[in-house]
Amino acid sequence: MSSPVEFRKYGDVALVIVDNPPVNALRHAVRAGLLDAFTRARGDETIAAVVLGCAGRTFVAGADITEFDKPPQAPGLSDVIAFLDEMNKPVVAALFGTPLGGGLELALGCHYRVAAPGTRLGLPEIKLGLIPRAGGTQRLPRLAGMAKAMPMILSGDPIPAGDALKSGIVDEIADGDVIAAAIVFARKVSALRPLPRARDKTVTLDGDFETLAAPFVKRARGLDAPFAAIEALRCAITLPIDEGLTRERESFMRLRAGDQSKAQRHIFFAEREAPKVRDLPKDVSSREIRRAAVIGAGTMGGGIAMCFANAGIPVTLVETGADALARGVEKIAANYGVAVERGGMTEDEKQRRMARIERATEIGAASKADIVIEAVFEDMDIKREVFAKLDDVSKPGALLATNTSYLDVDAISRATGRTSDVLGLHFFSPANVMRLLEVVRAKDTGPDVLATAIALARKIGKVPVVVGNGHGFVGNRMLRVRSIEAERLLLEGALPSEVDRAMTEFGFAMGPFAVSDLAGLDISWRMRKAQGARAEIADQLCEIGRFGQKTMKGFYRYEPGSRIPKDDAEVVALIEATSARLNIARRAIAPDEIVERLMFPMINEGACILEEGIAQRPGDIDVIWVYGYGFPAWRGGPMFYADLIGLPRIRDRLTAFAAETGDKRHEPAPLLARLASEGKGFSDR
Ligand code: COA
Repeated sequence: MSSPVEFRKYGDVALVIVDNPPVNALRHAVRAGLLDAFTRARGDETIAAVVLGCAGRTFVAGADITEFDKPPQAPGLSDVIAFLDEMNKPVVAALFGTPLGGGLELALGCHYRVAAPGTRLGLPEIKLGLIPRAGGTQRLPRLAGMAKAMPMILSGDPIPAGDALKSGIVDEIADGDVIAAAIVFARKVSALRPLPRARDKTVTLDGDFETLAAPFVKRARGLDAPFAAIEALRCAITLPIDEGLTRERESFMRLRAGDQSKAQRHIFFAEREAPKVRDLPKDVSSREIRRAAVIGAGTMGGGIAMCFANAGIPVTLVETGADALARGVEKIAANYGVAVERGGMTEDEKQRRMARIERATEIGAASKADIVIEAVFEDMDIKREVFAKLDDVSKPGALLATNTSYLDVDAISRATGRTSDVLGLHFFSPANVMRLLEVVRAKDTGPDVLATAIALARKIGKVPVVVGNGHGFVGNRMLRVRSIEAERLLLEGALPSEVDRAMTEFGFAMGPFAVSDLAGLDISWRMRKAQGARAEIADQLCEIGRFGQKTMKGFYRYEPGSRIPKDDAEVVALIEATSARLNIARRAIAPDEIVERLMFPMINEGACILEEGIAQRPGDIDVIWVYGYGFPAWRGGPMFYADLIGLPRIRDRLTAFAAETGDKRHEPAPLLARLASEGKGFSDR
């Protein structure tokens, strides 16, 4: 097989080009090829300088993450960089695209860096539960100073080329083709000695190390990698570089073998796998989306319209009442206003985005749109009425999407005479912020309609997961199971704050009752009433007007102007009275039991969802929970978590819950029971 690294000569400059699509990841053959090429350049007396560049869409975007689960194979990236440290002629990295992780470390090992204007540079390892392993924590602070390096490494967020130039990470921004600019640069510096090496510089601190680290320590709750990153950075100021490099590598190896990083790597790949639909023909064509329309200017509709405006797609917002429309538009303007106030957007940009939102009070205004998204009240009759009208007014070939969060998309679709154009697009609130998009494939949804929706989702910055049409799809169906269990725990002896604390300690940003108070208890109350269902505690709270934060009382009480939940004696009394009325003996419930009681039934429901084909893969369910419901990414989502615990334990606990509660729904799902008995996990299904 030919090497993914090419060696060319331009007079006295050697050009080393990595060509390993799609992102030039540093797989073994690339590392070996680089070492060969640099060795050749070093030994060739006609070569005065070397340029390291890449083919394709980006400079090396990192280590090859798929190799992380395999035994390391020499040469490692550190060996390549150590070779550069000993190089006898200058090496100039020509950066463009996203030099990330190992890619940036490789560039930091070069003597100079020239970057194309749009380049984004970063060390994102922390997002995979790791730290850099080939000198990133030692060389970056030496080049850019600790005050710049620490936030880059601890946040994992990339910085633009201009910023990198200011901080000394790059030496020049290319004017024109970056490789050509790097060759010119290389000729200019070819005779300069000594060669500048990041390793020879001393770290500038610009402040006190502990003060710089404090905000990251505060945010690192439950996570291992941030602490390891801070320790590695501390080594950059306390130890000679070679010792620092050894410590960094040891930490990396420990993190790589740990469950947190495995979970985060799982989510990285699951997110990229989720939009792939197994039975979708490879050559399916997409329809072009030039204009959108959103029906309903409430919170959801407004948020969805913002997604289009943000992505540069003109959108018509339709609401029947002029006042409701004005309120919806005001809310959008206010949302953008907050971004302007916080410095995240200019006033001009706000105006440009607002100008992309056309307002209308007649549904006929949707006739220009290539996609229409309905976001009206969650009621089947109302939705069917809207779709019947859309069938009349929409142009041929337009995608017709419902934003329902649990209703039957086939039933909605049948209100039209073009069922193959209809699908569900379930956005999560706030729609302009939350990244998850459940793409609901109805019975008749056309393959090109599905492909178009997936491509559009990515264009508007969402993480699409294709799901089947079943009540509540994936996320809300599992959430419902958790809500029932959470109520049961209250009746059996736990308080809302105890349940919430167990879940925040597990890693969720908020517990289920605090979330209910934030979202408003009345919404699910209305939904339950429509379905003839009841939640003992939540319904009683609604009956006495405790709708959550909006009434300053829900499962908790809130002080004026505060969102901090406080235990409320009235709620405790109500819960205790209900337990007594239902003859349930209250007992102390330990946090571990709370976690199991909430998590295992959800996992069981996930197993049913897989068996029914509502989700294609366990990883899809994990992505939905991480991006839509705040499941901690470092736990990998509910199905990954289940595999870590081991399915036999979950099966046994579910069997016990079923016996204790008399609830047959707790009996292990056939898929879960089978995998458990075969000693397998969901990922081996
Ligand atoms: N190792 C192995 N595969 C990688 C990879 C890596 N470091 N980075 C990306 N890929 C793969 C993706 O899995 C995807 O594969 P697929 O097409 O089979 O699904 C493909 O490359 C394209 O990646 P994608 O993320 O869809 O493209 P993008 O253009 O949106 O983003 C990056 C490109 C580089 C910004 C993004 O992939 C990224 O952030 N990668 C991780 C970088 C990183 O963390 N590096 C440090 C590793 S320690």
